[in-house]
This record gives sequence, structure tokens and C-alpha cells, in this order.
Amino acid sequence: MRRYYLFALVLGLCFSCETESKQQEEKQYDFTTMEAKNIEIVDSHSNGNFQDVALRHLHWEADVNFNEQVIYATAHWDIENKTDASKLVLDTRGLDVLSVRLDNATDTQFSLGETTELLGTPLQIDIQKDTKKVSITYKTSPSAEAIQWLTPQQTADKKQPFLFTQSQAILARSWLPCMDGPGVRFTYTADVKVPSDLLALMSAKNPKQKTDSGQYNFKMKQPIPSYLMALSVGDLVYKQLGDVSGVYAEPSVINAAAAEFEDLPKMIDVAEELYGAYRWDEYDIIVLPPSFPFGGMENPRLTFATPTILAGDKSLTSLVAHELAHSWSGNLVTNSNWNDFWLNEGFTVYFEQRIMEELYGRDYSEMLASLSYEGLKSDITELDEKDTHLHLALENRNPDDGMTSIAYDKGYLFLRHIEESIGREKFDDFLKNYFENYGFKVMDTKSFIELLNDEIIQGDEQLEQTLNVEEWIYGPGLPKDHPVPTSTKFAEIDELVTDVDIKQVQTKSKEWSSHEWQHFIESLPRSISKEEMKAFDEAFGFTNSGNSEIQFDWYELAIENNYEEAYPAIEEFLINVGRRKFLTPLYKKMIQTDQTDWAKEIYEKARPNYHSVSYNTIDALLN
Ligand code: BES
Ligand code: ZN
Repeated sequence: MRRYYLFALVLGLCFSCETESKQQEEKQYDFTTMEAKNIEIVDSHSNGNFQDVALRHLHWEADVNFNEQVIYATAHWDIENKTDASKLVLDTRGLDVLSVRLDNATDTQFSLGETTELLGTPLQIDIQKDTKKVSITYKTSPSAEAIQWLTPQQTADKKQPFLFTQSQAILARSWLPCMDGPGVRFTYTADVKVPSDLLALMSAKNPKQKTDSGQYNFKMKQPIPSYLMALSVGDLVYKQLGDVSGVYAEPSVINAAAAEFEDLPKMIDVAEELYGAYRWDEYDIIVLPPSFPFGGMENPRLTFATPTILAGDKSLTSLVAHELAHSWSGNLVTNSNWNDFWLNEGFTVYFEQRIMEELYGRDYSEMLASLSYEGLKSDITELDEKDTHLHLALENRNPDDGMTSIAYDKGYLFLRHIEESIGREKFDDFLKNYFENYGFKVMDTKSFIELLNDEIIQGDEQLEQTLNVEEWIYGPGLPKDHPVPTSTKFAEIDELVTDVDIKQVQTKSKEWSSHEWQHFIESLPRSISKEEMKAFDEAFGFTNSGNSEIQFDWYELAIENNYEEAYPAIEEFLINVGRRKFLTPLYKKMIQTDQTDWAKEIYEKARPNYHSVSYNTIDALLN
């Protein structure tokens, strides 16, 4: 285990002030100069010796070679040798390290430590007391876990190849030698060369159009942890949406994407109104090919998103509110290690809900909250009890195991519980200060509890009992008096589903949004005759719905009930879409219902389309 004390910084007041000098700007992001909270960084998922050596800035030179599916790169790290250490230890995974130089001059000795399946290979570099720069020349492996190389056939337009990275949680090390934990922040610049007919984008200040040379320069002036390092290369175009926001997508997708995300500028306004200035200057979204393994990823300045949220009616854009909210919770105030994941995701779901409520009303946001609440209750029955604690124990496990609805939706309910106990106004003040005081720093569960005690509970025993913090964080499942999202719209549907009368549903559903349809399908009895399934399908067109969430819910039910009319569509969905949240339950359902042969048959065709995050999960299910 690696430990050191990070002396966090209380941020000054004048942040968004445009006239501040460059010097002030640099100081603003120097997260080491002033003390706020002493947070001990303990990270079992990194081999980095961050207690000895600080990484300050990265200059990354890279040549992206699509033919070889390899990135040739040099990572120039500006370091601070805090303890006169003789070694710098970085995380790597499958990297071929060619040479290492110190201070642009001499080659130095390096060695590779023991490789483990979970953590990869530590890169141990000899350094001097006064070493300021370490330059590592390396190439990535064609099977680098973070990177997916797509053929033209796997893109929307089918003309050019495509590449994207997914670094969270611990995959950045497969394309960058770094200290790969959320407690280490650095700024970066990059010079990236790609084939001249493609556009390169990073989690940084981005170009709006292609260059003739295929050469691109990037700058991320705010310090970020490695899991927010991101690169995407493809045949991409840009469309502006607001003063500081826009969307990138392949040419055939750009108009649909721009229409879907039309409300993005309003979301940004609402978010700033709620919890303070947006600190990353610009906010864009890139719509990736359908193999992207997640719904969205909050890469700073450039959210990566799945095309499966392009429903045509903006019904799935709470995902954008979610990734935008991470610009505060997660990207500003960052979980100290992956056991504190709920501090990233629970806060983000809470913030997302607040944005959606503000923009579309409480009725709407309560539908979203209810859908998640039902999912949470069902997950709690399936998870190991210890995995239902907000504070997780992920030592010796893949941090991905923490990506359950506990961090997200139990985390959300806990914050909602605090809000409902102390009043919204007070809680909003607390959160605003939280983002201001701990921006560009880490937070851990223990310090968050201290903050609650110091700023909210303040010795009030009654309130302490009501908040019940220890049980929420270190206890299993949901405390008895947890908030329950209530949707009047859903209550009406509940009356229709016990004994469905299709005619009645047809009349009542004229004004339904996709969320009501989702609730309808999720509330149907799990066992339905094929004839009934067919009748629903004919009346409501679920199998060929253009809404991925409805398709997913319906396909689960179809598999359960051997409704074979839907099977070709299910097969197509599983082959095209690589979003793990959809894949895992569908393959699981096939296995549970003795249709494993069919699952394997589909998977053989689908696997080449999946990112490592998805195929590693499905391999484990089917092998
Ligand atoms: N940061 C997560 C994605 C993630 C978490 C990737 C852990 C790797 C490890 C992102 O913000 C997220 O939560 N995405 C969700 C969407 C959201 C609306 C709940 C997803 O992809 O489903
Ligand atoms: Zn998230």
C-alpha cells in the first residue's frame, strides 16, 4: 500500500474572473500549496510511489498507427522528487518500454517489476535527487485494454477507422506510463499525429476541425487524475450548441446528436446556478460508435457518450446531465481511491437529478428516480451483503466490481436523505462550499463524515440520529427510513399492469414518455405467454422500438419467456451495441433460461465488436 499526505488547498474566491494573470491561474490549480484537509492517500490499485515522487505535468508526444494498432509515444513527466528517492515507480500494462531519459539528457536504467493480472507491471526507473524530467519512450500493445481500434465497418459511416480510449478505472496504464490512481493529479499537453483524414480529440482544449497534416496539439491546464485521460480519433465533425458547448460525431450522426442535446446549454446554466462556476472552460460531448462500453464517461471538457442515447425525443439525456455533473463531483472533488467511488457517483446522481428537476420538473425527475430505485432494490437482493455498503472494500479486486447501483443510487438516496432532513437550502449551501473548498483535490469517506459533523450536525444529537450516517455508509442495504421516490405517473400505470387490457393501455398511453413505457414493461409479470407477448408487441412495437432502454427491458422479458419473434432483433442488438449495462443482464438471462448455446452463438459474432471492458465481463459469464 502506498501512503502519503496530500496537503489540499483551500481555493481562493476569484476563480471565474477572466482577467486573472497567468501566474494566478497556475497557482489556482497548484493543489499542493495550501492546506485544507489532510487526506491520506491509500490506493491498493496503483504501484506508483506517489508518497516519494509527485507527477506535476505531462507532455505526451504520440503517433497513432492504425495499421499496426499501436501508439508510438514518449511521455515526458515533470516530477518533484519529494523524498530524494532513487526510483520513480509508474504503473504500466502491456507497454513496450524502449528507453527512459532523465532531464532530456542521459538514458537511465529501468526495470519491470512483477506483472499481475489486476495491476499490470510496475515500471521502476532510476532517478537522481534533483531529477526534474523523466521521458519514457514506449509503444502500446495492439491489445491495450483501454483502447478500442475500430474498422470502418464498426463505425456509423463505415468509411474510416476509429479509435477511442476508456481509462476509468485503472486502464490508463495500458496507454500511458503513469501513477494510475485517482489521488494523483497532473496537467498535460500533447502533440498527437494521426492519419491526415481523421480528427483527434482529447480530454483537453480541442480542435473544431481537421488539420491537413493530421498533427494536433492539446492542452489541459487544470490538474486531472489519470483515469480522466482520454483520446478519440475518427472521421468527426463539430457542431456548436451554446457559447461554451457543442457536440462531435461522425457526419451522418451529427444532426441527430445536435438535436438530441439541444438543451445542453441550459443544463450548464442550471448546473452553475446550483453549485457554482463550471471550472473547465468548455464542455463538449462526443458521440462514439455503438461499441462504447458505457453510457457515458466524464472525460473533462469532452464527455464520451454512447449513440444508444440518441432516442430522437431527448428522453435519455439525463445521461448528459450526469456526465456534466461530474465536472464538479468527480472531476473537481475526486474520490481518493476506488473504495470511495460513491463520492464520485452518488453525488453525481444527486446533482443529475437536481438538474433534471430544475429543467423538466419534479414529476419528470421522480420518474427517473423511481426507475433507478426499483433497480437498486433488485440489485440489493442479488449482491453480496458487503458489496451493498457505500464504502467499498475492493482490495485485490477489479475496481469495476464497485460499479453497481450501490455507489450510484444508494449514494443518491443517502444525499437525498440528508437534503430532506436538513432542508434543501442548507444542503445546497453545503454542497456549493464543498465544490469550492475541495476542487482539484481528493475526498475520502472519513473526511466527508467529518465535514458532515463539522458543518451540518454540529453536536445536534437528534439530527445525528436522524441522519444515521454510520449505518448509511458502513451498513448493508437500505436503512429503514430511506427516502422513497414517488411518481404519480407510475402509480397510474401500476393499476394497469396486473391484468393488462391492451385497449385500455392504448387509450391511457397517448401521452406516455419512454419512461412510462419502461415502467410499464418492468412492472409486467415476469412470466407471460408467447401469445400475450406477441399481442403487446403488435400493439406497442417494443421489439423494434427506437429507444434502447425500452428495447433492453423488452428483450429481457422476451428471453425469459422464449418469445422467439424478438430473437433476430436481440441478436442484432447484441452484435451492434457494446454497452455493458445492456449486455451483461441479457447474456445472464440467456444462461439462466438454458439458452447458453444461443448466447455463445451470438457472442462469437459479437465479441470482435466489444471493448475489453465488455468482453472481459462476458467472457467470465460464458466460459
Ligand atoms: N464514470 C462513469 C463510468 C465508469 C464508472 C467507467 C466506473 C468505468 C468505471 C460514468 O459517469 C457513468 O456513471 N456512466 C453511466 C451513466 C450514468 C447516467 C449512470 C453509464 O455508463 O451507464
Ligand atoms: Zn458517473
